[in-house]
Amino acid sequence: MKALVYHGPNKISLEDTQMPEIIFTTDAIVKISTTTICGTDLHILKGDVPTIEEGRILGHEGIGIIEDVGKSVMEFKKGDKVLISLITSCGSCSFCKKGMYSHCKNGGWLLGNSIDGTQAEYVRIPFADNGLYLLPPDADEDAAVMLSCILPTGFECGTMKGEVRPGDTIAIVGAGPVGLATLLTSKLFSPTKIIMIDIDDNRLEVARSFGATNTVNSADGMAYEKVMQITDNLGVDVVIEAVGLAETFDICQSIIAAGGNIANVGVHGKPISLRLEKLWSENITLTTRLVDAGTTALLLKMVLSGKLDAKELVSHHFDMNEILQAYDTFKNAAHNHAVKVIIRNTDI
Ligand SMILES: NC(=O)c1ccc[n+]([C@@H]2O[C@H](COP(=O)([O-])OP(=O)(O)OC[C@H]3O[C@@H](n4cnc5c(N)ncnc54)[C@H](O)[C@@H]3O)[C@@H](O)[C@H]2O)c1
Ligand SMILES: [Zn+2]
Ligand SMILES: [Zn+2]
Repeated sequence: MKALVYHGPNKISLEDTQMPEIIFTTDAIVKISTTTICGTDLHILKGDVPTIEEGRILGHEGIGIIEDVGKSVMEFKKGDKVLISLITSCGSCSFCKKGMYSHCKNGGWLLGNSIDGTQAEYVRIPFADNGLYLLPPDADEDAAVMLSCILPTGFECGTMKGEVRPGDTIAIVGAGPVGLATLLTSKLFSPTKIIMIDIDDNRLEVARSFGATNTVNSADGMAYEKVMQITDNLGVDVVIEAVGLAETFDICQSIIAAGGNIANVGVHGKPISLRLEKLWSENITLTTRLVDAGTTALLLKMVLSGKLDAKELVSHHFDMNEILQAYDTFKNAAHNHAVKVIIRNTDI
């Protein structure tokens, strides 16, 4: 089968590889129809996730058809259309019992990390009963694949951790797919102002079409001044960091109002400096979170019912044979006006 294989920083290729097989009785094999690329895959290419071994098939997002199931899989059978969650969970360890599936002692973020992932024709899914979600046969795959990673990430690590409340003024730093997913889900809690901050004017425009009330291009280093102007010098009640850089975390620390919440979502490859000398007296809450994907079932209902317009995040479509072009397009997002790029195995 064809798969996108990682060979060290900035080295990936589309190759013929071995078909995956059932190893444990709780496994399923899924024939992938739709997959996509995450900002985290770009971090992997940059070398920010050093645990990934050479020869690993990348990808943790996907939709497909069940090809085979181990004999302990109860909820799925050959031919079912399924959504694949990025998080693998055994359901019985102490972390799973606390709902911290991303820290599962037998799972966590494995796909496209410590086991082969979804940017392939077939993938093995461990603990299939927990990591797969049944989709109606006619489900829109562009919309549904946003549930593998970015919608639960934006919702759990951004909107929920930041505790967005009705009437709040919020800011989201980073208008990539995760920042935009945060924007979409934050609207469920009716903030009155949503300020989107990025250096890519196209993505800021997309954010406006999703309901951002204000946009700030921070490329000139004036994000603080611009946000203070928008908020009558008060700052924001909640700020969500969805980039993963020291400079974007600094923007968050500078624009948060007294009593506010800073919710970090971005994957940081380097230490940042915490401005505790400013924050200590301001009653600021700082949160971090690795996505658990415990809200996937709830978000799936919202997407299928049209309450969340996830499909709008898709900007480009490619065939699996063009996956390297898809990576280039996503890597140069500003130039290509790219948000989320979809890759299909067209024979399915
Ligand atoms: N916490 C989690 O569990 C989790 C899960 C998935 C993704 N993530 C992380 O979330 C982050 C966002 O993911 P994504 O897929 O949207 O990534 P992305 O790379 O597509 O988007 C990042 C955005 O940040 C903007 N940006 C870059 N430098 C900037 C700067 N100096 N100032 C302002 N904006 C800047 C870019 O223009 C882009 O729009 C990544 O760090 C990703 O690894 C975290
Ligand atoms: Zn992801
Ligand atoms: Zn577990």
